[in-house]
Formats: sequence, structure tokens, C-alpha cells
Amino acid sequence: MSKSEVTVSVIGAGYVGLTTAVLLAEAGYTTYIIDINQARLQKIKEGRSFFYEDGIDPLIAHAVENKKLIPTDSYDESIPHSQVVFSCVGTPDNPDGSSNLTYVFSAAEQAGKLLKPGAVFVQKSTVPVGTGARVEETFVKLKKNVAYVSNPEFLREGTAISDTLYFDRIVAGGNDKKAVEQVMDLYKTIERHRDKITERAGLKVPEHQKGQYITTNRNSAELIKVTANAFLALKISFANSIAKLSDHTDADVLEVMDAVGADRRIGRAFLNAGRGYGGGCFPKDVSGLIASANEHGVELPIMTAASDVNDSMPGYIAEKAQVALGGSLPGKKVAVLGLAFKAGTSDVRRSPGVHIANLLVKNGAAVSAYDPQANQEAREDLHQKVSLYENWQDAVKDTDAIFITTEWPEFSKVGAKELRKLMDGTVVVDAMNMLDKNSIREAGLTYIGVGRS
Ligand code: UDX
Repeated sequence: MSKSEVTVSVIGAGYVGLTTAVLLAEAGYTTYIIDINQARLQKIKEGRSFFYEDGIDPLIAHAVENKKLIPTDSYDESIPHSQVVFSCVGTPDNPDGSSNLTYVFSAAEQAGKLLKPGAVFVQKSTVPVGTGARVEETFVKLKKNVAYVSNPEFLREGTAISDTLYFDRIVAGGNDKKAVEQVMDLYKTIERHRDKITERAGLKVPEHQKGQYITTNRNSAELIKVTANAFLALKISFANSIAKLSDHTDADVLEVMDAVGADRRIGRAFLNAGRGYGGGCFPKDVSGLIASANEHGVELPIMTAASDVNDSMPGYIAEKAQVALGGSLPGKKVAVLGLAFKAGTSDVRRSPGVHIANLLVKNGAAVSAYDPQANQEAREDLHQKVSLYENWQDAVKDTDAIFITTEWPEFSKVGAKELRKLMDGTVVVDAMNMLDKNSIREAGLTYIGVGRS
């Protein structure tokens, strides 16, 4: 079948679903993007995304105009016409840390009823190992002759388009080898079109070009995803543990990790100490892995420790600042710069910046805050006493201390002398370890990093 005849549906217009759908559409496949959220659908119809992501809007606009990307809330309109259906629904965590699979099963059930014989159902949502087997049982109960493929997603928010076009690996696993190949073919088509797509998105071609296509079994594919995220989270918590030791020993964790990471067996990536990891993936993937291992009678103390270290970081940083401010926060004015869980996104899920701002309010400080992209998104999660500003200069005016909590490029350009003029006090807490500590100190300010001696 030629690609122009292949129709694809993507369930869930979130970060993963919308990125996948728009790239399939740009590669030439007629692609339905299904969501129940009318506001999201409306934005897609207008040619943009509901979240900030570099390069995605021009692609959405182009694909919608060409009628290759079709936003809909209707399974009836989309699923019966599709050879391949991707499920990209959310998997939030339950209060006990396990993965909540309600949306995964309801999407499979609703789509399952409408899938045509021989169709392929592709799971992209991050699910605990063993979930695919349960979804397959649902299809058997529905008496559906359809194939199931686990195809986990590795894209990062902020670089989602580039990560998908210039991937390290595409992983697909399932019992039906032909269906697995069919899924791989979709990605190979995207790869063939990637130069043109990159240009349209206004993105740069990265140095890394050659990714791997890895075919495996269904359960291995599921476990690969959570294991990769757990290992990256582990690296961050490891770096943060060494940062705490550096704080007590006059070592600089940046220099330590640069040298440690120069060993190719270890690698420098994800060894940046700071306020810890946040976002829609790492926190819940770590707790989901621990819960899923426990269900199988396996303890993962190494991951429990990683999670505990991460949870400790906002408090650790607030405490360091409190000591520098003379021991107590009531009556002190502080600014938090950075509310997105990382730079390049407007996502504030489990954002350490939001957590730190709320903690500082709880401890009695008057808190102002600013983020270049996430002010609006953060409002709901921020304590009502936090005042939001439209630029960093207004946020830091007359403060006793400032906290940098997201590595936005504009914060690295903040001049030490300008800060000194705007602030009342002198405490600069660099919770991302991104500022030049010497120029901060030379301007007469007190630099506090995480493990920066
Ligand atoms: C992550 C995975 O990287 C991606 O492969 C997967 O598909 C989804 O989860 P994402 O959550 O978008 O992606 O962000 P990522 O860039 O991995 O950062 C996660 C968090 O870790 C952020 O809060 C970031 O600030 C923090 N981080 C990252 C550190 O604290 N130190 C580091 O060295 C790297």
C-alpha cells in the first residue's frame, strides 16, 4: 500500500500525540488527531499547539491547511478508516505512586470496537511492563483480529520535533512481526522527509544523524521505556547527592561532573546537579517503576533512593538560602525566576520552581515570580500569595534574594551589576548552576549554587 493510501489515527493531542501526529501528517500520511478537549482541537484547527514547543506551530499550520492533519473528537469518524492507531493518552500516577491506566484501557476499548480487521494498535503511552498483554486480552474479548505493538516514546519536551526526527532509537515490540515492520515503516518515511520538515519547522539540523531501529518483544519494549527514564533520573539524583557532598568539602560539582563525565563509559549528560527533576515523566515513571516492580515481588531500593534525593532538593535549596538570609524568612522579599519544569516548554507539571516558590511562601517570605513562557500555566499551582511579573527585572526589584530555578537562556544573560542595582539584598541562589559564580561575587553579591563550594 502506498503511503498516501495509509490513514493513521492518533488518540490524545498531548505532547507526545500531537508531535507524532503532525510528523506523520508532514510525512504524507492522512492523520486524524483525536482528543476530547475542544480547546486543544480548536487551537490545532487554527494551526497551533496548546503548549509552547519549538518548531511545532508551522508544521501544524501546514498539515492542517493541506488536510493531512485532521483534528476530531470522534472515534467513529477516524478509527474505522485507519490502518494504524496510536494511543498517546495520559498515564497519571495514583496516590500510591502506581500508574493510573484508566485512559489507556478506555482508549483501547473505545478504539477496539471500531478497529477494522488487520489494523495495528500502537501503544505509545508509558505503561508498566505487562500492560500490553492486558490490552491484547481486551481485543480478544471484543473478538477483534488486530495486532498490538508497543512503541515507546523518548522525545523530550522543548526539543520534541528534533528528537523525533533525529532519534537515537525507535523501539517497537510485538508478537506480530509484520505489524512491527509496518510501524517501523511509518518512522522510516518520516526519516526520509526530515530535511524538508526541519526546514519548515525553522529548526537546525543537529549533529547527531544516525539512529537505530530496534525490534524486540512486547514486554521488553515496555520495560525499555521506563528503564531509560529511571536511569536518567538516577543520574540526576546521583549528581545531586555528590553536590551535597561538594557543598561540605569545597569542591565544585560542575568541575567534578565535567571530569567524571569525560569518561565515555559514564557520559556527561544528565549529571547536572540543581533543584532536581520535574515534569510529566521522570517523577511518575520512577514511582511507577517502583510500584510495578513491587507488584512482581521485586524491591528497587536504588530507585526509591533516587526519588527521595529528588524530593529533598527544593527543601535543601530553600534551607541554604534561609541560612544566608540570617536564619528566617518572614519579612524577607524573594524572587523565583523559572516556573516551567525545564527551559523550552510552558509545562509546569511537578515543576521544582513552583515547588520552591510555594515552600518559600509557606516559610514566611513574600514571593514574586517570573517565567518567560509558563506564567499563565503556573498560576493554578502557585500559592495565591505569589505575585507574578511580566519580566525578570520587575520580579527581582527590591528583593533580598533571588532564585534561578529554570535554565532559560535569558537568565544566563542576567548581568550581575544590574542585579546588584535592582535588588535590596545580595543573595543569588543559582538552583540550576548556570551562572558565572565569579562575576556574581565580584559584583558584591552572595552566590549560592548547588554543590558549587
Ligand atoms: C524525559 C526524557 O528525557 C525523555 O526521553 C522522555 O521521553 C520523557 O521524559 P522531559 O521530561 O521532557 O523528557 O525532560 P528532560 O530534558 O529529560 O528533563 C527532565 C527533568 O530533569 C527536568 O526538570 C530537568 O531540568 C531535569 N534535569 C535534567 C536535571 O535536573 N539535571 C540534568 O542533568 C538533566
